[in-house]
Amino acid sequence: MNQHGQRGGDHGHREGHGHGHGDDLDWAAMADMLELEGETLIPYVRQALAELRHLDPHRVLDIGSGPGVAACRLASMFPEAEVVAVDGEPELLARAEQRAERLGVRLRTRQARFPEDLAELGPADLVWSAQVVHHVGDQQDALRRLAALLDVGGVLAVVEGGLPPRWLPRDLGFGRPGLQERLTVAMAEGFDRMRAELPGSVAVVEDWPGMLRAAGLTDVRSRTFLVDLPAPLAEGPRRFVRRSLERHRAASDEFLDAEDLATLDRLLDPADPAGVDRREDLFLLTARTVHLGRRPAL
Ligand SMILES: C[S@@+](CC[C@H](N)C(=O)[O-])C[C@H]1O[C@@H](n2cnc3c(N)ncnc32)[C@H](O)[C@@H]1O
Repeated sequence: MNQHGQRGGDHGHREGHGHGHGDDLDWAAMADMLELEGETLIPYVRQALAELRHLDPHRVLDIGSGPGVAACRLASMFPEAEVVAVDGEPELLARAEQRAERLGVRLRTRQARFPEDLAELGPADLVWSAQVVHHVGDQQDALRRLAALLDVGGVLAVVEGGLPPRWLPRDLGFGRPGLQERLTVAMAEGFDRMRAELPGSVAVVEDWPGMLRAAGLTDVRSRTFLVDLPAPLAEGPRRFVRRSLERHRAASDEFLDAEDLATLDRLLDPADPAGVDRREDLFLLTARTVHLGRRPAL
């Protein structure tokens, strides 16, 4: 995730799989991480969905559902609705189906590529799309297409931005203090590069509420929800921090100096008592922003 709470610079990059969405990210290879991340950050989804509990939707779309952690929450919250997890990766949709079965919720899945297949997916009363629009070259166009899926009165919820994650004490007891801040900067650099390299990448002022209004929506508001997992971390979130640091280590050679890379190596050493598998002071603090808008009557 970058400084906006988004993933960047730490992506799994494809090596000639040839079934991408136009970018070169191998989302299927990231299935474990995406599911672990979804489960770890579920507190923000729970809080965001509480804001939507007054709705009584007939059809709900989770666009870019990944392995379906939020989609299953939506299905459990709106058991009468047809909830559809939509993603470009069949492997991730299979995970979503397995998850729904395990949890005993009714979930449909549909494979689609964004933005080109979006028009075929509507109509819906609620469209949820978390951490997906920033992977599309033209974000404003993607929002217009998402808004166009809504019936009159329907709600679009787009999760973009928030606060960068924090896991580490400022002073780890070794290395130069402040590694977390430097990781945040590295993530922001990677994110910029990811955006610049997307096909059809269009620069836009990332004023998400303004962009939702430009997509024709009204009653636009943004709410930010905290994920606050204090030390000591349970096994799942601890594994999430390890995986996040591993991805940093793989992607940060050009962004971090030798001392910080050595600090990361020590943190990732399973045998080191000061490493992330063993230390008691790891925590997880982050926030996600949900931008909401409603499709007005014509
Ligand atoms: C960062 S993950 C977000 C997953 C989930 N919404 C969440 O918040 O954890 C982005 C998801 O969007 C999907 N995706 C990204 N770009 C896509 C595209 N152009 N077409 C179809 N799916 C895409 C990926 O397969 C992945 O599952």
